[in-house]
Amino acid sequence: MKKGLVSCLLFIGFLLAGCRQKESEVLIIPQPQLSKVSSGTYRLQQQTTFSSNLPEEENQEFIEYLQASPLALQLETGDLQKSEVKFTIVAPATEKESLESYQLSVTEKGISVSAPSVAGLFYGFQTLLQLAEQGEGDTFVFPLVEIKDSPRFPYRGLHLDVSRHFRTKEFIKKQLDAMARYKLNRFHWHLTDGAGWRLEIKRYPELTEQAAYRPYPNWKAWWKGGRKYCTKDTPGAQGGYYTQEDAKEIVEYARQRHITVIPEIEMPGHSEEVLAVFPQLSCSGKPYVNSEFCIGNEDTFTFLQNVLLEVMEIFPSEYIHVGGDEADMTSWKKCPLCQKKMKEEGLSDVKELQSYLIHRMEKFLNDHNRQLLGWDEILEGGLAPRATVMSWRGEEGGISAAKAGHDVIMTPGGYCYLDAYQDAPTTQPEAIGGYLTLEKVYSYNPVPEVLTKEEAAYIQGVQANVWAEYMPTPEHMEYMIYPRLLAVAEVAWTQPDNKNWERFHRCALKEVKWLQDNGYHPFDLSKEVGERPEAASLVEHLGRMKPVKYTTPYAPQYTAGGDSALVDGYRGGWTYGDKRWQGFLNTDMDVTVDLGKVTDISSIAAEFMQLSGPYVWLPREVIISVSEDGKTFTEQQHLYTDVPTTEDRLVFRTYQWEGKASARYVRYQALSNGIEGGWLFTDEIVIK
Ligand code: ACM
Repeated sequence: MKKGLVSCLLFIGFLLAGCRQKESEVLIIPQPQLSKVSSGTYRLQQQTTFSSNLPEEENQEFIEYLQASPLALQLETGDLQKSEVKFTIVAPATEKESLESYQLSVTEKGISVSAPSVAGLFYGFQTLLQLAEQGEGDTFVFPLVEIKDSPRFPYRGLHLDVSRHFRTKEFIKKQLDAMARYKLNRFHWHLTDGAGWRLEIKRYPELTEQAAYRPYPNWKAWWKGGRKYCTKDTPGAQGGYYTQEDAKEIVEYARQRHITVIPEIEMPGHSEEVLAVFPQLSCSGKPYVNSEFCIGNEDTFTFLQNVLLEVMEIFPSEYIHVGGDEADMTSWKKCPLCQKKMKEEGLSDVKELQSYLIHRMEKFLNDHNRQLLGWDEILEGGLAPRATVMSWRGEEGGISAAKAGHDVIMTPGGYCYLDAYQDAPTTQPEAIGGYLTLEKVYSYNPVPEVLTKEEAAYIQGVQANVWAEYMPTPEHMEYMIYPRLLAVAEVAWTQPDNKNWERFHRCALKEVKWLQDNGYHPFDLSKEVGERPEAASLVEHLGRMKPVKYTTPYAPQYTAGGDSALVDGYRGGWTYGDKRWQGFLNTDMDVTVDLGKVTDISSIAAEFMQLSGPYVWLPREVIISVSEDGKTFTEQQHLYTDVPTTEDRLVFRTYQWEGKASARYVRYQALSNGIEGGWLFTDEIVIK
């Protein structure tokens, strides 16, 4: 009895401690590593002064930032002891301590931030900004806290594609401000791609004169309408570019926010715009034919190196990104110059030819004290000796690179591509496809379990990628970035043990409000609809887990679990990439389910989807038939699609027979519309 009472009291005590813990959390993003809140508040008056032991020249910049912030702190010029707010540089506590770490203490008497670097002080100040609540008049109220914080990863990035749709300097600065708020420190600027060249190169002014504008209102019209470029003064011209002065201004603006700008100059693929201007650098020698540079032509190297020389003048970043993704290598196979180069260099295939280019670029960059960064295709044909790999086609590239002793930035499509739908596509503006919720981004751990501790040390960080094909306006781009970027920020900064989805979601709701109040256009998280209802529960039906015979094969990329996928009871979600949709490429779907014995049937149905961007089509026709013996089939239903291939939106359609039949075998045929490279996707044949 006594023992029971003690355990009961202990349990109540534990519960209370648990509650207190919860109440005392700081609600900021990213969540600090250690934080302790006590009762009480500190009120910051208008024009409060601060003091600091920073060197004079660094101080100036920081002073201006603090003065311009909503807290409008002023530098104490008189008695330093008087100031209630202190920013102090201290020696690092250990050799291993990140220079970006900081400690923050808010007491009833004032605020103290200390850090081993200005970057640390800056992050401490960002934490303060998020903790501040507007009080009466122009005062701000802070909870009393002790925070000890440092980042999980040194690389915490945001990538922006400004080729598909040009974005102004002001827009870029606005995103840099948000990055600083969430303690992100790398801005990967995708400046060149087939849809437009965006950086002034003084040696080659033709690039921006002839390939920075398009005579179409947006990327989609350009893509579908002939993919031409034009000069700025052409009627209807859309686009733009950054002068070198603009780019330097961005670099400086970012630097003041402790963000490094990493420029990307695409090669050897995604280069249609360069080759329209300089067709002699392509294998065909003609404009609007190739998207890849001719690697057999030495002029290609001269051009790329001249461009990189100017790029390095503008961008002090150690990393220079050279793209490397998605090159279509077919022209190299037939090109006499490329073939000659392969022979001379002893290269056995075109992947090695690409690798040859990347190796030479790395040598060039290294000779100029820079490091090469590239998408994971740079692994193919042999990785350049010191290259860092950005793993985007899943994590495999990153895993191989880390195992080979190379630094890695994780940006896998399934977690980090903010161009996918963030909510039910039926409620969203058009996107490229997929379905990537805030929760899924948040769940990401950039260190794959298969890596040893030593290998894991090569994972330098994580990055959100924002490809802009379907983001024609700046508002739309922000809508896709926020709040998902906040989840990437917490993945990048906060140790996994400290992450907590419920708390993060509460913070994200608060931050969405902050973003709205500060002129951003985030997705309204409070209105999230969520996953496709069909995917929420298992469907029981007569065909469940019965044998299925495939007359046509499903594609190895989309098996959805194999031969039982269409009768496993699992319905698919919003995206065909969720491993519940089975895919058929360039073929009809023709399957027969064996119910084991003659059975009374009243309904046979399967659902398909259409998404024209990735060539996912509804079937042109569906034929549903049944049989008692598996030899003679009676057609029950013959249906035709009512959705044209010009439909841009994601569409779902169920093709169903309803009636009365007695059969052991059910045959479901979905006929492809015959478009080369076309897919059919279905998730379940539901038999009732
Ligand atoms: C990429 O998404 N092509 C890197």
